[in-house]
Amino acid sequence: MLLAVLIACSSDPAPAPAPVAEAPPAAPRDSKAEAKALADANGLLSELGQSFRSRLSEELKARGPVAAVEVCSTEAQALTAALSASSGGSVGRSSSKLRNPANEGPDWVRAWLADADASTAGLSEVVDGRARVLKPITIEPACLTCHGTEIGAEVQTILGERYPDDAATGYAVGDLRGVAWADVPVR
Ligand code: HEC
Repeated sequence: MLLAVLIACSSDPAPAPAPVAEAPPAAPRDSKAEAKALADANGLLSELGQSFRSRLSEELKARGPVAAVEVCSTEAQALTAALSASSGGSVGRSSSKLRNPANEGPDWVRAWLADADASTAGLSEVVDGRARVLKPITIEPACLTCHGTEIGAEVQTILGERYPDDAATGYAVGDLRGVAWADVPVR
């Protein structure tokens, strides 16, 4: 019997290729935990967007663009860091033309930015156990005061002082300015 099996085997055509090294069995994906992490990441993005928006418009109205630049430059980083710390994830704003070099995002954000334009869709996905969401940010008329082509002399001066490597000017309404992104572990 054994012989018959051996013979039968040896008469087989080319042996079936060994299965290509499969990744070790991944822990079963927990779709509820993933959905929660994605929802948390989206929540972070909304919080970030709302805080920036309300601080910016408050200052613009109350004290004008120069004061608003001051507020942005002193509060933006702290606000972003506080939100990241409270969430156990990371959140930020980034761009392919940065004003503040500290806003360079993680690799996956940089990769998205590298070939995006105003029509590129955002992201919402789970990769390597982390929920990643990314939303494109486009230029509106109100942004031109500080990111447009004709920036007032006073604003230009303070931008130059605070951001000597500023690349975030020259935009027109509708241009892709950058992104808001968040990255939250699935647990
Ligand atoms: C009063 C001036 C001012 C206005 C108006 C303004 N920004 Fe900014 N923007 C700044 C400053 C200052 C920074 C750098 C903040 C920091 O230090 O993180 C910045 C940074 C950013 C960043 C982070 C990436 C980077 O380049 O560092 C994005 C994205 C951004 N702005 C988008 C916008 C959009 C969209 C609008 C309009 C809705 C807008 N900004 C309006 C001053 C302004």
